[in-house]
Amino acid sequence: MNWARQVSPELGGCSRMSVICVLGLGRMGSALARAFLGKGYVTYVWNRTPARCAPLASLGARVAPSPEQAVAACDVVVVNVIDYEAADGLLRSPSVAAALEGKLLVQLTSGSPDQAREAAAWAAERGAAYLDGAIMATPNIIGDPAATILYSGRRQAFEANEPVFRALGGNPVHVGEDPGHASALDGVFKAAVARGHLRDDFAALAQVVR
Ligand SMILES: NC(=O)c1ccc[n+]([C@@H]2O[C@H](COP(=O)([O-])OP(=O)(O)OC[C@H]3O[C@@H](n4cnc5c(N)ncnc54)[C@H](OP(=O)(O)O)[C@@H]3O)[C@@H](O)[C@H]2O)c1
Repeated sequence: MNWARQVSPELGGCSRMSVICVLGLGRMGSALARAFLGKGYVTYVWNRTPARCAPLASLGARVAPSPEQAVAACDVVVVNVIDYEAADGLLRSPSVAAALEGKLLVQLTSGSPDQAREAAAWAAERGAAYLDGAIMATPNIIGDPAATILYSGRRQAFEANEPVFRALGGNPVHVGEDPGHASALDGVFKAAVARGHLRDDFAALAQVVR
């Protein structure tokens, strides 16, 4: 089987529906893949532990035997593994790195602003567009109107692919051209929660959802 998908003339800016791959099918990655499938996207999946692919396959996902085959088959590569070290181990193998040329790489693995910036520069050297995302949601609300995901990186890449991001939640927000901004804002939000600064907001929210 030939896994290679022809590169779009403009990254996602064309009329055809993007083909997606999701690398990493933990709690969050599985929710992301389910949301894409729910919106009718052709979705390739790969996970280090293959058994985690079966529930997605039963929903219509195409299981790729290797990450490079998943990447070759799609337009938009969504990565959601435990951390950047794991993501780098996947993406920086020579065969996966070569397959990334002409694709949009969307890194939804949590990391630091500097890791996001370094990854964006690495992707650019391989001819891939790059967006870094911070998921401000739990797996059970991925795909819901209220789910918020922050994205940073080239605005053009975000705008050209907004329907893809809307599949994951009704509130995708582009927060800056600097690829580190999504992660930085995520850190600020978490620090505010940890310090109790949002205590009153959560109390008000509890009244609303009661
Ligand atoms: N869950 C949430 O509520 C939430 C919210 C916001 C952001 N996030 C972020 O989303 C990411 C995933 O979280 P999760 O909750 O889905 O974690 P999880 O359920 O523990 O899943 C971890 C995933 O990473 C994969 N993985 C771990 N080490 C790997 C390696 N060396 N090479 C390849 N794959 C590897 C695992 O593969 P195996 O199945 O083979 O172990 C699995 O697919 C994290 O960065 C997390 O911070 C999660």
